[in-house]
Amino acid sequence: MEHGVTPIETVEQTLILPLFEAVDKPPNRSLTGLSRAAQSQVKAALASDDFDGKSGKMISLWNGDCKVVLVGMGKPSDLKSNSARDAGANTMASLNKSHGKAITVRFTSGWKATMMTAFAEGMMLRDYKFDKYLSKDDKDDNDDDTPYNITFQASVRHLVNLTAGCNRSAAMASGVHIARDLGNEPANKLYPMEYAVRAQAFAKGKGNLSVTVLDWDELQKNNMGGLINVGKGSEHKPCMVIWELNAKAKDGPCPIIVGKGITFDTGGISLKPGAAMDEMKFDMHGSATVFGLMVALHGVGHKGHMMAISCMAENSPSSTAYRPGDVIDTYSGKTVEVLNTDAEGRLVLADGLWKAGEFNPEYIIDLATLTGACVIALGHEASGLWSNDDDLLENLRKAAADSGELAWPMPLLPAFEKQVTGSKIADVKNLGERYGGSNSAAAFLKQFVPKNGEGDDAKQYPWAHLDIAGTAWGTSNNATVAHGATGVHVRTLVRLINDE
Ligand code: BES
Ligand code: MN
Ligand code: ZN
Repeated sequence: MEHGVTPIETVEQTLILPLFEAVDKPPNRSLTGLSRAAQSQVKAALASDDFDGKSGKMISLWNGDCKVVLVGMGKPSDLKSNSARDAGANTMASLNKSHGKAITVRFTSGWKATMMTAFAEGMMLRDYKFDKYLSKDDKDDNDDDTPYNITFQASVRHLVNLTAGCNRSAAMASGVHIARDLGNEPANKLYPMEYAVRAQAFAKGKGNLSVTVLDWDELQKNNMGGLINVGKGSEHKPCMVIWELNAKAKDGPCPIIVGKGITFDTGGISLKPGAAMDEMKFDMHGSATVFGLMVALHGVGHKGHMMAISCMAENSPSSTAYRPGDVIDTYSGKTVEVLNTDAEGRLVLADGLWKAGEFNPEYIIDLATLTGACVIALGHEASGLWSNDDDLLENLRKAAADSGELAWPMPLLPAFEKQVTGSKIADVKNLGERYGGSNSAAAFLKQFVPKNGEGDDAKQYPWAHLDIAGTAWGTSNNATVAHGATGVHVRTLVRLINDE
């Protein structure tokens, strides 16, 4: 979508009028620029019972030259940014390009600039399709490639804030859409080194963004046994992609985000059952969120120093694959007894987390489609959130809630650590008990969180883990996404890191 912001003046082919409840008369300004016929149509609709302005209500009015969509927003005092965002998303979902691509969205009485921005953000987020593999002939009118052109209108006193808000939301939406694109890509098109190539292509020419790739040879030189072992069964070799934004602004510790990037998870030798295995193309969504976050932070003009690490591998069975029973070395120096090759995400993250310790982290946050158990626990409604630091946990929880991307606190208990440290032949094992599987996975990761300093009294860096197994795709209750990859937590992390 392309967007602009103007005062209330002319009307394009379609006028969207989000109105609050108990508007018995249309606010005068809302009818500016409409033909007489359209004006009386809107007045009639508001005078009848057809439209009461209650939240969730939406009606479309047609007349010769213009379509007017009335969107119910409930009471102004009840409106929260999450519901304003959803209303914008639902409005977008109801549009059809064959009814015109030039759209006016007009905010009149009762609207605050922050709520307008949230509504606009919802529209932007929902304006997404993954249709690159559809032949032209298969596309319907709505798949027309020319974008919507949306003009947001409000009274003059709101225009400065609305313009800034819309520009910021547009930058975030483009990061979310790139994360969704990567998530939706099938595994034959997007494999570890292809992700690296796309990351380098994005960074090219951007003076404040750099991408470094540790390829197969460099993984060997560095003894990154987590990535090497998970990835070695596939023809598509693993790699680690290291992102750095605003290196010149380096001034003490910086946030570091780590993403699980399994471009396809067959389970390896511990092969998964066939049902819905296609969904394991989404198993790189942690790294997709990392990519989208870098796009979004760059787009909003983030000035601070930050870094990210994408741990990329394809988990495949073959004669060169790692096996159950293998003992592997990780980058940290700790050995791991592999009891199930399908618990691979924690192994690649072990190397990524340890690597983060070399970059003077302020805090480390990892994102991973880590466990089916997390989907059992929280469904598609919230990501699981574990942390060794109360402040980081609360800041992240709040940024997620404010973004409409819930992250729910889960326990990091010594009992779960005991499960994964209980190997007789290695430092840790990659499998805990069946029950509470997402907690033992988090407890495993904690074994690889680096410490600030040497010696026994050195403390681990603040670290949080987001299990996005249920939220990265498959949501049906999310207005901002139609289907497929969600781009979850790009906006959460922009909010946390680019705190204005
Ligand atoms: N990528 C999966 C987790 C997953 C499963 C995410 C279903 C979303 C939907 C992960 O690598 C995995 O296979 N985890 C195992 C761990 C088990 C072997 C301890 C799981 O959850 O079954
Ligand atoms: Mn797996
Ligand atoms: Zn996996």
